[in-house]
Amino acid sequence: MRIDSGLKYRYTTFMTAEELRQKYIEFFRGREHAFIPSASLVPENDPTVLFTTAGMHPLVPFLMGEDHPAGTRLVDYQRCLRTSDIDLVGDDHHLTFFEMLGNWSLGDYFKTEAIEWSWEFLTDKKWLGLDPERMSVSVFGGDEDAARDEESAGIWESVGVPKERIYFYGKKDNWWGPAGQTGPCGPDTEMFYDTGKGCSLGRGDECEPNCGCGRFVEIWNDVFMEYNKTAEGKFLPLDQRNVDTGMGIERTLQVINGLDSVYQTELFEPLITIINNLSQIKDTMAERVVADHVKAAVFIIADGIQPSNVERGYIVRRLIRRAYRYSLQLGITDDIFAPLAEKVIQIYGQTYPHLVEKRDFIFENLKNEKEKFAQTLNQGLRIMQKELSLKERGAFPGKVAFDLYQTYGFPKELIEEELQRHSVTLNDEEWREAEIAHRELSRQGAEKKFAGGLADHSERVIKMHTATHLLHQALREVLGDGVGQKGSNITDERLRFDFTYPKKVMSDELRRIEEIVNEKIAAGIPVEKRILPIEEARKIGAIGLFGEKYGDKVSIYLIGDFSKEICGGPHVSNTKLVGKFKILKEEASSAGVRRIKAVVE
Ligand code: ALA
Repeated sequence: MRIDSGLKYRYTTFMTAEELRQKYIEFFRGREHAFIPSASLVPENDPTVLFTTAGMHPLVPFLMGEDHPAGTRLVDYQRCLRTSDIDLVGDDHHLTFFEMLGNWSLGDYFKTEAIEWSWEFLTDKKWLGLDPERMSVSVFGGDEDAARDEESAGIWESVGVPKERIYFYGKKDNWWGPAGQTGPCGPDTEMFYDTGKGCSLGRGDECEPNCGCGRFVEIWNDVFMEYNKTAEGKFLPLDQRNVDTGMGIERTLQVINGLDSVYQTELFEPLITIINNLSQIKDTMAERVVADHVKAAVFIIADGIQPSNVERGYIVRRLIRRAYRYSLQLGITDDIFAPLAEKVIQIYGQTYPHLVEKRDFIFENLKNEKEKFAQTLNQGLRIMQKELSLKERGAFPGKVAFDLYQTYGFPKELIEEELQRHSVTLNDEEWREAEIAHRELSRQGAEKKFAGGLADHSERVIKMHTATHLLHQALREVLGDGVGQKGSNITDERLRFDFTYPKKVMSDELRRIEEIVNEKIAAGIPVEKRILPIEEARKIGAIGLFGEKYGDKVSIYLIGDFSKEICGGPHVSNTKLVGKFKILKEEASSAGVRRIKAVVE
């Protein structure tokens, strides 16, 4: 069905975010829900996720059956952070930080009340007064884990949604949870507002709510949480049937105020204005990324997380660095962080008073991280200049450039600009090769990632990969050539290396091993890859598992004349990029095999 664009029915007076929050709470309080305050972005007792990614998160124990002190009907607004869609930030409605309005039934009401109330709140003029003609809904189409949700479809019809605007979709679209690997989950029903824009993907009248074109904006999701997903991947019925709903504040504000994007709402527009005033280049996507990331960083820091190289600290570090890079892209030379943080606190301070209390802490952390990164960029520039001075002509090595980009976070645009100034071209093919190798690792890493984390931790993996070679050789130097690799496993948090050795490694030996690795890192030794026939590899004394074969050839990584090891890579281009190496633990793995766990910082 086609709907003319233009808003004949929209909310006539502008609604603010605070009015929306208060209306929602009032509506559900009127239906016996108790208001509960927003929990922290840092989940209290849940190691399976890095951040609170949805309103249901802090409520998991109660969805599983524990009694909630406030009762069985709850309402709240919850600050949330999702980094899984970070690459989509900058379009009209993807964000990392956002707020979610939610109402809960903990084994109390179920589908009928949830759907009828959602409909009333959305369309009744007393509440949001959205045009019912512009609303579409989707329900779960059924699969081997749960039945097709005819019941919800029937309830939607009974409130007045015509059959042709009720869509049945599969798990990908109409199933929610669990938030981590296991826990409460269930089929959901989602509510969409038709903006009336044509389908930008060319589907015309075939365009449906699950099309990615942005014509339909999903604003609310009612989840019927009646299953528990187990570690074995089974969906078992929960003892109680719950309702978990989530209404996105930014998207809802967008549609009730007839705007084209969440970035035009009062929760963003003042930030975009500050950025525009300091920019020299117009780039909508970049200004949105800066606004989104700085806001997210402010909220994460306010919940007590400081930028670092691990877990949550790493996420906030990435957000700040990414924001800084995009601000450079906009030609911003003044400090953008302080004025944006000030504005974020002003916009949200009343709703989230802890932002005001943590003001100094927020400013200090943003400033320190930005300065550190600016220094890193300078260091990167120096590495580039050094490399340039070695090359009188010819293309700049793509691997070095990619390392600068990936390991140092040195923006590619800056690399290209710098090369242009020296009339040097970039070896694109080498860059692409390095990128493909990196993506491979990234993908492997991402599969193991926490649900709320960034998929992109792989530069740490690459550093640890090189550190593992250094460790291997250092072990042989200190403990003798009898040391042979039995296994190695690297995550973005630590490296693990198993090796043959008959007894416990003494602490002074461990110290010496650590020292050698750090000396080799400090020496800034180039890491070089060579492909050699197996025989020749043996002859030059390469160690490692002779498994990485290309026909009868093997690939070897040489770290100066210190280490020669057979390996598929990838590695950093210079040991200097590894960082500081630290042994965490030495223990027995099995008979005659010892295990070392270590990190790079
Ligand atoms: N937990 C549901 C969501 O985040 C409501 O969409």
